[in-house]
Amino acid sequence: MNHLLAKRALLVTGKGGVGKTTVSAALARSFARQGKRVLVAEMAKDGDESSALAEALGVDRLTEMPRAFEPNLSAMLLTPQVGHQQFLRDVLPMKLLADAAMRSSAIRRFLSAAPTFPEMGVLYRLLDLVRAKRRDGAFEHEVIVVDLPATGHALALAQIPASLLRVIPTGPIADAVREGLAFLRDESRTGAVVVTLPETLPVSEALELVRGIHENEIPLASVVVNRVPFDPFTPEERDAVHRMLDDRPPTLGERTVERIDRARVALARLAREVTVPITVLHDVWLEGPRLAEEVASLMQVEGAT
Ligand SMILES: Nc1ncnc2c1ncn2[C@@H]1O[C@H](COP(=O)(O)OP(=O)(O)OP(=O)(O)O)[C@@H](O)[C@H]1O
Ligand SMILES: [Mg+2]
Repeated sequence: MNHLLAKRALLVTGKGGVGKTTVSAALARSFARQGKRVLVAEMAKDGDESSALAEALGVDRLTEMPRAFEPNLSAMLLTPQVGHQQFLRDVLPMKLLADAAMRSSAIRRFLSAAPTFPEMGVLYRLLDLVRAKRRDGAFEHEVIVVDLPATGHALALAQIPASLLRVIPTGPIADAVREGLAFLRDESRTGAVVVTLPETLPVSEALELVRGIHENEIPLASVVVNRVPFDPFTPEERDAVHRMLDDRPPTLGERTVERIDRARVALARLAREVTVPITVLHDVWLEGPRLAEEVASLMQVEGAT
């Protein structure tokens, strides 16, 4: 996964439950261990309390401000609200005015209900984090890993600009949107990481997501195939097992063999259809922080080969 280290923002995306949060936490741990200052951010709705990322990292809770909880490793919740506030502060002449505007429930309702404004807030906040510098001039967060919610949220981020620019083609919002779009499309700074399971339908959906990502001109950095079952067979052994199973009534372990076969087919299909590096992660019998920890060390081995 080391080719990902050069990016400023990694957008981890994929269908529900495929392992986005686990992969985000593991990527962040693995980068931090390699000496990068990493921020891992879980995209959340305003007012979200529970955080799967906090659990995967083994911390009690995340806040809307980045918090370092290990050397090189910070985490946060990425919500629209802080982005909106930041934006208002940047465009309105006084901080006082911006804060007053954010206190207005009518404005808050508008910002969270109008289509694309929540994404706009998230994008604005992300840009702010990308730009943040330390006193010595170095970037505060060298790499930002964004754990996106299920569905094509990477696409929703990229689709803001077109729809918003139609309505508001000039002024500070339009400028911010253009800058956000330029960042999302910049291959040297941004990369999407698509996570999938090694099964037929999830792989079809992942390939569809990959196409959407291309259409929106977001650079695809990597595909991660998560929970690949361990395959103990050589090709000869596999043939022998299949011959044996063919002549028998349903046999214990047959489903596992089928699952291993489907995973091989799914991996081959992905390898044919995508041009970016594919990372394979195995099923791990752990949960929570120990799972992310184990996946992080698996990634390092993958990266080394
Ligand atoms: N490699 C793995 N081995 C074993 N279990 C895993 C692995 N990856 C993920 N899991 C488990 O699968 C479940 C879903 O993982 P995770 O929360 O990372 O997915 P997600 O894509 O973030 O889900 P959501 O769409 O709900 O945000 C979790 O219970 C997690 O512990
Ligand atoms: Mg998740």
